[in-house]
Amino acid sequence: IQKLVTPQDLAGLKVLVTAGPTREPLDPVRYLSNRSSGKMGYALAKVASLRGATVTLVSGPTALTPPPGVETISVTTAEQMFQEVIQQSAKAQLIIKAAAVADYRPLVTNEQKIKKQGQGLSLELTQNPDILAQLGQRKGRQQLLVGFAAETNDLEQNALSKLKRKNLDLLVANDVTQPGAGFDHDTNIVRIFDQSGEVKALPRLSKEQVAWEILNLARELFQARGI
Ligand code: CTP
Ligand code: CA
Repeated sequence: IQKLVTPQDLAGLKVLVTAGPTREPLDPVRYLSNRSSGKMGYALAKVASLRGATVTLVSGPTALTPPPGVETISVTTAEQMFQEVIQQSAKAQLIIKAAAVADYRPLVTNEQKIKKQGQGLSLELTQNPDILAQLGQRKGRQQLLVGFAAETNDLEQNALSKLKRKNLDLLVANDVTQPGAGFDHDTNIVRIFDQSGEVKALPRLSKEQVAWEILNLARELFQARGI
């Protein structure tokens, strides 16, 4: 019923969304991860699907139920997300990267549990691939790329530099120090930037409402470019 009363204004559009954290194993019982519930990405997948898009969701581990009608692919590590997203990206027209990807992983994953020893412990980490930057490099003329950034300081400067560096069309930034924004909340407070600067500063909204606004902007960009 919800779908019957929702405008099908994204019908025909193929959307790829990533959501959730990644987990980088240290040993069989431990991992490094990010704070991310996956709610923003799942809201995007749900709303895009309700509006008629064909949606694929690549999700790290979350406690959420996949939205109905959305092809959902589960991954664990950044490397797995990278492989899956690159494979899925060729057919997508709109790619939205809401996942909180771990920037680093342990250089070695121990096959056995690391035993407690001594006073301190140093971990050696190595960089993960930047999935969004790779997508930006190979972006097709018909494709739109939307990134997210959770910031604690210098939001505008960081947002615009990520947008340019990763060749994005839109960047959705939130200040995670604000109450009611980001991690684990059902609401978010975001500012959205395009290549010309800020396009929209939204008040505190539910993540589904934020998703609705992001998809509106993407739709306008497609229309402006005659896609
Ligand atoms: N991202 C990604 N692959 C990574 C790291 C980040 O695809 N290895 C994506 C995220 O999904 C998000 C965007 O890049 O859409 C911005 O993530 P963020 O962590 O804010 O940017 P970084 O470039 O990693 O910068 P930093 O963590 O230093 O702020
Ligand atoms: Ca990062």
